[in-house]
Amino acid sequence: MSALAARALADGLDVARVRADFPCLDQTIHGRPLVFLDTAASAQKPNAVIETLTSVLRHDYANIHRGVYDLSQRATDLHEAARAKVQALLHAADSREIVFTRNATEGINLVAQSFVRPRLVPGDQVLITGMEHHANIVPWQLLADQAGLELVVAPINDDGELLLDAFEALITERTKLVSVTWVSNALGTINPVHEIVALAHRRGVPVLLDAAQAVQHLPVDVQELDCEFLVFSGHKLYGPSGIGVLYGKADLLEAMPPYQGGGEMISSVSFAGTEFADIPYKFEAGTPAIEAAVGLGAAIDYVQSLGLDNIAAHEADLLAYATRAMQQVPGVRLVGTARHKCSVLSFVMDQAHPQDIGTVLDLDGIAVRVGHHCAQPAIERLGHSATARASLGLYNTRADIDALVASLHRIAAMFG
Ligand SMILES: Cc1ncc(COP(=O)(O)O)c(C=O)c1O
Repeated sequence: MSALAARALADGLDVARVRADFPCLDQTIHGRPLVFLDTAASAQKPNAVIETLTSVLRHDYANIHRGVYDLSQRATDLHEAARAKVQALLHAADSREIVFTRNATEGINLVAQSFVRPRLVPGDQVLITGMEHHANIVPWQLLADQAGLELVVAPINDDGELLLDAFEALITERTKLVSVTWVSNALGTINPVHEIVALAHRRGVPVLLDAAQAVQHLPVDVQELDCEFLVFSGHKLYGPSGIGVLYGKADLLEAMPPYQGGGEMISSVSFAGTEFADIPYKFEAGTPAIEAAVGLGAAIDYVQSLGLDNIAAHEADLLAYATRAMQQVPGVRLVGTARHKCSVLSFVMDQAHPQDIGTVLDLDGIAVRVGHHCAQPAIERLGHSATARASLGLYNTRADIDALVASLHRIAAMFG
């Protein structure tokens, strides 16, 4: 990313230079230029990430933490430097609070099994919201079957906003954890996480924030937020797949039992018993995704070189532009109309099923997701079984939105 491109984005002038950093965007689909509007599922990767991955595999690859030899030391240093970059991104106080996982899903399962489960008596509750991704529903349902957890769901309104009073009323002395998405992947709603943390803490309840759709759009400061846990996935932050992060407050992580057993997470093993390694390694059993962690570090450098404030401003402009334009298309209805939204436009059309919308858009080279977006209860709450979803990333332009809207007009005429 050149300084010029960073400045161009900062000034909100032109993302053409930024797009040039993303080789996968430069292709045709069915003979049409690709318009990629599925960043909420997985973001495309900038050259900086691709080149870092290649470089690690070409020059710096060996298993980490075990080697006395130079190459292994170098790989270990790169891996731990990536942890420091995550720490800086989240403004965590201590790099020991950064646990590498496979993805956000694994981070939530880790908290379910290693934090909630050991403290649980049957009838204890975890409070979530009606707009959660399945990754923040199913781990708790497993815990319900395993140990008698009660899953409590705070309601949302027809716009897809959390009803904060109802949410507060559902926090009881039986609530062991509040676990809430920061940004809804299906509706785009930005939840008032500062208020949520404050409400939970007033009752002494710890909070897990699912930041899978937040870290790539909004600046994050876990110390200021004061959340106990936070998870995200590398692949949505312009980084590689197979790497994610669990942030946890050090004293809590220290008190938690390991999630999985194996190599890397021990300090000594005998058949009589095992001593575990210190945090965060206690939670990182087995050989980690070494090159993916380093690639995530490169992705963090990349977004920070652009500035998360600049990215947020650019995407907010695009979201407003797209919202206005899509509302002009006959038969289009946006699903998820919260006052505070980011980067997601879920919609249905009176004339066509989401599956048909997605198929026709693909023929026009436009990639959107259709279905329930792994948030089936949220989509059903808003009265649908499926939607089409256009989601925005830092590389999208008004021209992308124009292409989408032109195709939607054609679909309206074709099926109308
Ligand atoms: C809000 C939210 N939480 C959790 C996840 C799960 O992410 P992953 O599949 O990378 O674990 C997603 C993925 O779409 C998401 O959008």
